[in-house]
This record gives sequence, C-alpha cells and structure tokens, in this order.
Amino acid sequence: MLEIKVFPSLLSADLLNMEGSINLVKDLADALHIDIMDGHFVPNLSYGPSLVKALRKKYDLPLNVHLMVEKPENFVDMFIEAGATHLGFHIEATYHPQRLIKYIRDSKVRPFITLNPATPLHTIEYLLEEIDLILLMTVNPGYGGQEFLPFCLKKIKTLREIVIRENIYLDIMVDGGIDLNTAPLVVENGANILISGNGIFKAQNPREVILKMKSLKYGRV
Ligand code: DX5
Ligand code: ZN
Repeated sequence: MLEIKVFPSLLSADLLNMEGSINLVKDLADALHIDIMDGHFVPNLSYGPSLVKALRKKYDLPLNVHLMVEKPENFVDMFIEAGATHLGFHIEATYHPQRLIKYIRDSKVRPFITLNPATPLHTIEYLLEEIDLILLMTVNPGYGGQEFLPFCLKKIKTLREIVIRENIYLDIMVDGGIDLNTAPLVVENGANILISGNGIFKAQNPREVILKMKSLKYGRV
C-alpha cells in the first residue's frame, strides 16, 4: 500500500508571516516545498538560499527544494550548504543530468529530477536506476494557483506502471493545481507525494486538507 505524503508549498504561504503559515501545518507536513525561480527558466522570481538556511535553522522538517533555474549546476552548492534535504532540478534545464544527480547525492542530499508537463517520460528512461524521486509538474512552472493540467494524468500512470513492472523504488511527486478535487485523481494514477500551495494555504481549513490528502489510497478514489 502506498503511503501518501504531503509537502505544502511555501509559495502560497503568507509571505509576511511565513512562521504562522508553517506553524499551522508543520506537525502534519512530511516536508516543506520551496520553489526557487530565476526569471529565465520561468518568468518569475522567488527567493534564494537564505530562506532555506533560515528554515533549516528553525525547523526539523525535511526541506524539498525545487530549482526552476537555467544551468542548475551553477546553483546546487549554495542550496546544499543552506541545508536542503532534497534538491531537484529540471531535466529541460541542464545538459548532463546524470552528473548533477551524482554530485548532489555525493553531497549527501537526496536528488530529484523534475519534468515540465509537456516533457516526455523517455527523457528520464535511462536515469531511473540513478534516482528514487521524480517530480512531474502538473502545471507549467512559475506561479502558484494555476489550474491543474489533466493530460498529465497519463504520464503519472505510465510512470507508476514502469515502477511496478521494473520493480524499482521511486517516489512520484506532483506539483501544480493539487487540491482536494485533483488529489484523488493523481493518487489514483500513482502519485504518492502531493505538493500543494493554494490547495492548502488558501483553504479555509489547511489542516483538514492535508489530513484528507494523506488518507487517499492508491488504486481507489
Ligand atoms: C509552481 C511551483 C509550485 C507552486 C504550486 O511553479 O513549482 O510548487 O507553489 O502551487 P499551487 O499548488 O497553488 O498550484
Ligand atoms: Zn514547486
């Protein structure tokens, strides 16, 4: 049975009271998701390693850092030093993903690869032995609060089928437009880690949303 994990995305937290937002969810969250944007790979800016460092100092939670940057190899060191627990980059943003995975892993941080909605799974076919965590974007990255793209369900399903067929260990994360309406769909298709920004922080009862998400079961809506 797949245990469903939930990583709240701080992009939707109250920027002027991030502590308040985190305190609301910290005992239920399995990790905090932190979006790093460079204004090139995505048309937006967010924050940098100093936020990761500050969070690391204050909280015990794993920090899941999602780099939406061009040439991520130029940025990984600063996030490793800042205390990221998981560090992920986009397959579209670098030429030598295997080298970068190895570098991150050798630095004792768990690497992950992210795919944009339109990027096919075959781009990571030969990397599945090198990695145990994949993030499938379910919106085009860059902003919180966008609408979930239903065509991504097929990709989630295919990846889960590969994992079962090949009998490998792989956590499948999804990110973008995940709320109580879309969470059952992604879980039914095989995602086991749900990243959610607006779905949690803009809800009336964020804690209830997390609990409901975590109670979902793979193979049953
Ligand atoms: C989008 C980011 C997401 C974002 C998701 O580019 O990668 O992590 O915070 O926000 P929601 O859940 O509101 O779509
Ligand atoms: Zn993200």
